[in-house]
Amino acid sequence: MVTRLDWTSQSGGALHGSVRVPGDKSVSHRSLMLGALADGTSHIRGFLEGEDTRATAAVLQQLGVRIDTPADGERVVHGVGLHGLRGTTQQLDCGNAGTGMRLLAGLLAGQAFDSTLVGDESLSKRPMRRVTDPLALMGARIDTQDGLPPLVVRGGQALHGISYTLPVASAQVKSALLLAGLYAEGETEVIEPHPTRDYTERMLAAFGWPIDFAPGRAKLTGKHTLRATDVDVPADFSSAAFFLVAASIVPGSELRLPAVGLNPRRTGLLHALRLMGADIRIENERESGGEPVGDLRVRHAPLHGIELPEALVPDMIDEFPVLFVAATAAKGRTVVRGAAELRVKESDRIATMARGLRALGVAIEEAPDGATINGGAISGGSIDSHGDHRIAMSFAVAGLVANGTVNIGDCANVATSFPGFLELANGCGFRLG
Ligand code: S3P
Repeated sequence: MVTRLDWTSQSGGALHGSVRVPGDKSVSHRSLMLGALADGTSHIRGFLEGEDTRATAAVLQQLGVRIDTPADGERVVHGVGLHGLRGTTQQLDCGNAGTGMRLLAGLLAGQAFDSTLVGDESLSKRPMRRVTDPLALMGARIDTQDGLPPLVVRGGQALHGISYTLPVASAQVKSALLLAGLYAEGETEVIEPHPTRDYTERMLAAFGWPIDFAPGRAKLTGKHTLRATDVDVPADFSSAAFFLVAASIVPGSELRLPAVGLNPRRTGLLHALRLMGADIRIENERESGGEPVGDLRVRHAPLHGIELPEALVPDMIDEFPVLFVAATAAKGRTVVRGAAELRVKESDRIATMARGLRALGVAIEEAPDGATINGGAISGGSIDSHGDHRIAMSFAVAGLVANGTVNIGDCANVATSFPGFLELANGCGFRLG
C-alpha cells in the first residue's frame, strides 16, 4: 500500500533548461525478462528505477534469477536460460504494472510450474481476458477472477503456436503471445489491426532469437535459445511528453530533452502537437541500442484545436491525458475519437480527465471512445488523479497555466513510471509541491 501523496501546482512563469527524463518503461520491463531467459549475463543501462519495473525485477528474482544493481539505472541480469526459472508458491506481485502482468502471463504459461500473479488495486481492475483467451488457444491454462487478476498460471502445459489477429491494437497482448511462443511447438504469429510498439520483436532479435516482423505483424517459432546481450534503454518518450506540452503552453518557455527514444510507434503526440502548431525540433537524431533516439527542443507556440487523426491513436496511447491539457490551452476545439482503450488504463482516463478538467472550469464532453475539449481559461481547483500517474503529472502541467492553485490528489503512483518528476519539474520552472 503506497502512502497517499497530494500535490499543488501553480503558474510561475517560463520554463527553461535541459530535462533528462528517466529510462523507457516498456524497454526496461522487456530487458529484464529477456535477460532472465537468456544464456549468459546481460548488462542494462538507462534502466527505469520506477516501481513498475522494480516489481518485474522482484518477480524474476522470486523465480530464481540473480539481478544485481551496480549503480542507479543499471542492472546486471544473470540469465538462467529458457528453462531455468524456478517455481515459487509465493504470490508474484506486479504492483501497478499492466505490462509486467500481461507479459509475465505469457512468459509463465510455458513453464513447468504454477504461478500466481497479483497486482495493486488499480491493476486488479484491469481486463486480463485479452491475454488469457489467446493464450488458452495456445494450450495455456490461466485462471482469472471473472477476467480480472489475480492470475493463476498452470504450469506443465504443452503450448502450440497459433496465428492470432488482435481485436484491439495492444503491444502487451502481442508481447505476451510472442513470449509464450518461445515455449510453443511450431509457429506463433500475431497480426495487429494497427501497428503497435515493436520492442519485444526488436529485442528478441537482439538476443539472437529468429523472428520475422514488420509493422503490424510478427512471427516466430519456439524452442531456440536467447543469448545474453547488453541493452541501452533510451529516455521514455511518454515521460518527455509532459515537458513537451508544458513548454508548448507556457509563454516564453524553451526546454531541451536529451536522448529521448523516438520509436515511431511512440511518437504520435509529437505529430499531434505539431498539427496543433507546436514548435518542437529533433536534433542529433541517431541510433542507440537499435532504437532511434534524438534530443528534443521545444519552444512555446500558440496552439490551436484539431480533429485528431484516428491513425495516431495507438502511437500516443499513453499521452492522451497530457494531450487533453494541451487541448485545453489551445484556441478552439479538439476532438478525440477511436480511443476507447483509454477507459481500461491505470484509471478510466477519459472519465478521470473529464472530471478533473471540469473541476478546473474547462468545457469537455465525453464520448464512449474519446472527448471533445474546448480550449479556454483554466481556473484553480481540486482534482483527484485516482492513483493514475499520468493523470497526476498531466494536472501538474495544467497548473502551469491555471488562474489559481491546482490541488492534485493521490499522486504517489507517479513513482511507478517517473521517479524524480517533482524535482525535475521544479528544476525547470514548475511550482509543484
Ligand atoms: C505497453 C503497451 C501499451 C501502453 C503501456 C505499455 C507496453 O499498453 O499503454 O503503457 O509496454 O507494451 P496496451 O498494450 O494495453 O495498449
